[in-house]
Formats: sequence, structure tokens, C-alpha cells
Amino acid sequence: MARNIVIANWKMNPASPVEAKRLFASTRAAARALRSVEVVIAPPVPFLSLFAGKRYKNVRLGAQDVFWQSRGAVTGEVSPAMLASLGVRYVIVGHSERRALGESDEIVSRKVSAALSAGLTPILCVGEGERDEHGAYLHALAGQIRRSLAGLTKNGIPGIIVAYEPVWAIGKTARDALSARGLHETTLFIQKTLNDLYGRRAADTVRIVYGGSVEANNAAELIREGNVSGFLVGHASLSRGFREILRAVGRL
Ligand code: PGA
Repeated sequence: MARNIVIANWKMNPASPVEAKRLFASTRAAARALRSVEVVIAPPVPFLSLFAGKRYKNVRLGAQDVFWQSRGAVTGEVSPAMLASLGVRYVIVGHSERRALGESDEIVSRKVSAALSAGLTPILCVGEGERDEHGAYLHALAGQIRRSLAGLTKNGIPGIIVAYEPVWAIGKTARDALSARGLHETTLFIQKTLNDLYGRRAADTVRIVYGGSVEANNAAELIREGNVSGFLVGHASLSRGFREILRAVGRL
């Protein structure tokens, strides 16, 4: 059984390499003591090389995005092989902030396949923009998962991570996050969707994590009752609260 995992999505932070090193060091110190939790730090691309080429106890490097081609005249993009050459193991794909900039499910599915081919583990982000009383959002969620994984066979999905991130809950506070009960119901639905698409055996290898205003004061309940294998953490990964989140996951 794979360990629980907590991914620090730094987004476009911090402002300088000096601050990035400081943040990395404090996160690493918090992670070192928690063997039961796998910690992934995903800094902005320019800071990746600060941490490349070294092995850190219990901390892995992640990237926030990747391009699907391995080479070519593509201004501004970064290939999966380039990330892998820096020691990056995980890559966030299809984050709602990228989808909002125009990334379609088709592009996301190409990125997922390209990441896997380069030996990276994709963290596929999915989530509804809003919830409705009749559950239509579940239908939309299933469609998003299916299209984002199009092109993968049963053999392709082992080991991937699905990050369920309801868009309405991102970047707020713990009070606005999804309830543990709501999370449990949705993750059961995601598991069923993966079962239907890939069969139980393959689907069981997929870790589902939650993202969207995970903070120090809701992490314990979400991990205990939410039926997830960890978290994708945005703003709280930049603060001391991240240590508490790791502890909450580590206590299980
Ligand atoms: P948040 O971001 O923790 O700031 O809500 C999560 C994410 O966008 O991955």
C-alpha cells in the first residue's frame, strides 16, 4: 500500500531564490520526522534547479506543469525529460488555474501521457466549478476524468495520482473548504468512475488526494474522514501551517 502523500504547490511563490531555499529547508525539516508521509515540493520552474540532483530524506521534487512534446521550437515550454533530468518525480497536470488559461481536457490528457512516458508521476487535477443540488456536477466530473485520461490503457494508470480540487474551494480558508463528509462521498464517486473505466485492480493503485483550502485546522478531519490519501496544498504550503498539516496526516 502506497504511503499517504502531501504535495506543496507553491504556485508563483516565493519571490526570490533566497526565500525559496528558506522555505524548502523548513519544509524539509518538518518532513524528515514523518516517515509515514511522502512529501512533494513543487516550486516554480526557475527554482527547481536549486534543489536538483540531491536526494532528500522523505522529500521529492515536483513540477507545476509540463509540456507534452519532448523537443521542438516551442517557446516558453518545458519538456518532461528536462524535468526528469533535474530529479523531478511528480508533475501537477491540469490544475484549474491552468485550465482557466485555456488548457483543455485534450491537452491535459497529452500531458498525462507524456509525463508517464518520461517516468514522471502525474498528479491529475480535476474538480467542478460549482456544485448543484441535483448532482449534475458528478456527471461533469466523471467526464473530465475520462477525457483527461483518454489515451491511457489499464497499464497506463498504475501509480498516477488524482487530485480532487473543487474550483470553488481553492484559495479560500478552511471554513470554505469541502466538508469531510462531502469529500468522502465525492472520492467514492471518483473511485467508482476509475473502476468503471479501468477495472478494480488498476483503479486501486490510484491515490486520490484533496486540494482546496486545506489548512492546519481542517487537515486532521479531512484526512480521517475524507477517504483520501493526502492533500495538494496551495497557500498553506507557504506558511507554518504546513507543518501542522503534515503532522495531521502523519498521525494516522
Ligand atoms: P489552496 O490551493 O490550498 O490555496 O486552496 C490548492 C491548489 O490550488 O492546488
